[in-house]
Amino acid sequence: MFDVPLSPAQQRNLERALNVPVLDRELLILEIFAQRAKSSEGKLQVEVAQLEHLATRLVRGWTHLERQRGGLGKTGGPGEKQIELDRRLIVARVKRLRERLKSLGKQRRTQRRARARREVFSVSLVGYTNAGKSTLFNALTRAGSYAADQLFATLDTTSRRCFVADGVEVVVSDTVGFIRGLPHQLVDAFKSTLEESIEADLLLHVVDAASPARDAQMAEVDRVLAEIGAAEVPRLLVFNKLDRLERGAAAERSPCGTIRAVFLSAATGDGIELLREAIAERVHAARAVLAEPHRCARASMLTSPSAIRADK
Ligand code: GTP
Repeated sequence: MFDVPLSPAQQRNLERALNVPVLDRELLILEIFAQRAKSSEGKLQVEVAQLEHLATRLVRGWTHLERQRGGLGKTGGPGEKQIELDRRLIVARVKRLRERLKSLGKQRRTQRRARARREVFSVSLVGYTNAGKSTLFNALTRAGSYAADQLFATLDTTSRRCFVADGVEVVVSDTVGFIRGLPHQLVDAFKSTLEESIEADLLLHVVDAASPARDAQMAEVDRVLAEIGAAEVPRLLVFNKLDRLERGAAAERSPCGTIRAVFLSAATGDGIELLREAIAERVHAARAVLAEPHRCARASMLTSPSAIRADK
């Protein structure tokens, strides 16, 4: 297994020399995604990513044959024809898959809009893979989302409604985990799933507080969020796995008074109440902000000529 990208020739030569299958980071991640995808959308997204990965390799292989052909002075050959045929089949299949993904994405957006119309505050869990998002999702919503000590156990967005305080209902969504150097095809393929995070009212950035790579993982999540256009979405940091650090649950406020971070353990449930309170506080704050423009709009309506005409 190599932590750097390998060219097809490097991979082939290494396999020949070592006599074992050789994978690079990108192929490994694609492989894990392929095994974990459960929903039809997730499976389609993985297939698109795999085919696109394959297509780039075929193109490279073709250039290589092209050079050989030039040397031999022949025009075309069975290898080249086969590769061209394969490439065309891949392009056609990717196109079909993308169309199906597009219609699934449309359904997802319609559901989101319906939710927005009902004015349910939406919360998305984001974080590095294995940070404990699904465990936290379950603890918050007391549902049976798949939590396992595996990378990318969750590939499909799951959403569930729950009450965080008396009369304060939110929709919580669990999303795909981020990882350093996620293959580009995957970022692309998972765009529609990740859109869930962009449109959320609040992002819970779940961090494995006990991980030695904690800071690098946080930075990577910030980078991906910026890349998908979610940098401006309000955020709450959740430092998870506190039981491993042997310190108590706590909520930390920023100098202006809003809760900035919650320290908890999703596994033991210690601190979950603090998180519920923090979310409820954000919901109240958002409602207060929403109430403002209404007041302004009413005020301007009273003075506008059309409002006066309507009054008459
Ligand atoms: P991906 O689906 O890969 O993105 O993972 P995830 O972020 O959803 O993580 P998940 O909830 O599957 O948890 C990963 C592992 O961490 C599991 O083995 C959990 O049991 C474990 N875990 C989650 N929360 C805690 C916690 O508070 N304390 C401890 N000790 N382990 C936890």
